[in-house]
Amino acid sequence: MKYDNLIKTVKALFKDEPNTLALLSNASAFLMENIKDINWVGFYLKTKDGLSVGPFQGKVACSLIKPKMGVVGSSYSEGLIKVIPNVSLEENHIYCDPSSKSEVVIPIFNQSRVWGVLDVDSPIINRFDQNLVGFLHQFTLTLTNFIDFNNPLL
Ligand code: SME
Repeated sequence: MKYDNLIKTVKALFKDEPNTLALLSNASAFLMENIKDINWVGFYLKTKDGLSVGPFQGKVACSLIKPKMGVVGSSYSEGLIKVIPNVSLEENHIYCDPSSKSEVVIPIFNQSRVWGVLDVDSPIINRFDQNLVGFLHQFTLTLTNFIDFNNPLL
């Protein structure tokens, strides 16, 4: 399915779901099913001490990540999308699974504050081209419209 169609599908899929845990769980499964050549996809969500792993698809992952640590922590602290074409060349990268070769992390904002991030890993170097990053950004913005920020998960 083309990225535009995927966005239409997620809008339809998410619009009647009031529960954020259900929303994020299905969102990670949706990406795992529809994006080729990825081996981990999920959310890290803000807690008291940093970010804890949330709903995801893939192997068991690092659980607590401190602000600024790794790609996840730096995206969270800076509020910026991070695209890592080759994780072996990135000093500030946390290895959860040695088969991951490239990665993208996209912050999710509640108003102007980062509430969590979407993290996607691929076993292929340079997997996250501009089109795919653009789609994942659009996907997180769509998801943001459906998240109930007044009902914290963690
Ligand atoms: N590689 C990430 C850690 C999370 S895992 O990829 C699931 C990082 O450097 O923050």
